[in-house]
Amino acid sequence: MASILITGANRGLGLEFTRQYAAEGDRVLATCRDPAGATELAAIAGDVTVHALDVTDLPQISALAESLQGEPIDILVNNAGVLTSGQRMGGIDYAAWEHEFKVNTMGPIAVAQAFLPHLERGTGRRMAFISSILGSIGTNADGAYTMYRSTKAGLNAAVKSLSVEVAAKGIIVLLFHPGWVRTDMGGPEAAIDPATSVGGLRRRIAAAGPEDSGCFISHEGVEIPW
Ligand SMILES: NC(=O)c1ccc[n+]([C@@H]2O[C@H](COP(=O)([O-])OP(=O)(O)OC[C@H]3O[C@@H](n4cnc5c(N)ncnc54)[C@H](OP(=O)(O)O)[C@@H]3O)[C@@H](O)[C@H]2O)c1
Repeated sequence: MASILITGANRGLGLEFTRQYAAEGDRVLATCRDPAGATELAAIAGDVTVHALDVTDLPQISALAESLQGEPIDILVNNAGVLTSGQRMGGIDYAAWEHEFKVNTMGPIAVAQAFLPHLERGTGRRMAFISSILGSIGTNADGAYTMYRSTKAGLNAAVKSLSVEVAAKGIIVLLFHPGWVRTDMGGPEAAIDPATSVGGLRRRIAAAGPEDSGCFISHEGVEIPW
């Protein structure tokens, strides 16, 4: 039985990660901004505990890490993310962009830093960051999504660096594009359902070795250009 901490666990991919790991009998530390309103999360059977966590709230991240001090965590799934609409030239909202950086770039790194001691106590020693192909500079032929793309490209750069820094501790760090998924963010026209995306992501997380650390891959294991 592994211990898994997930951010943004109340809906979308985070909820599906919680469902699948709980169904496997794993212990899930499911975090979300509003536990009282997380009814779907509360309905999941198994060893699931729900914790309040806004990934932009640095004191709250530290307090949660402190309250779980001494607990091993095998897999950290940095999943929470935000995508603001209307991101073309002429429609850039700088306050929203700053917020996206806090949620998509700085938050996941802050969570990883705070829970590094817990990862070191675990045996799984894996961190998964849910990025996006929209963070790939090399494949950007369409423009738009200026704010979101830059926050995910920034996440990729930061996580690559993190992967090098924690390699000596035996921690494997993975960056994922989850596919275009039917969630609130992906919308109803998206290509795949959350179960397919998360099933693939979980297989990649379980199979990863040190040689995979710092790689940017899809839920199907296809490498994505930076
Ligand atoms: N769906 C896709 O097609 C797709 C494609 C590529 C990448 N992604 C990435 O996959 C991840 C999950 O996306 P999704 O499709 O599941 O999106 P979603 O359905 O919109 O869910 C987003 C999750 O992030 C949480 N969140 C937002 N701001 C937060 C904050 N400040 N602190 C903590 N949690 C916060 C939300 O919580 P609240 O309910 O409290 O807002 C929600 O649980 C994201 O990182 C996203 O960028 C998704």
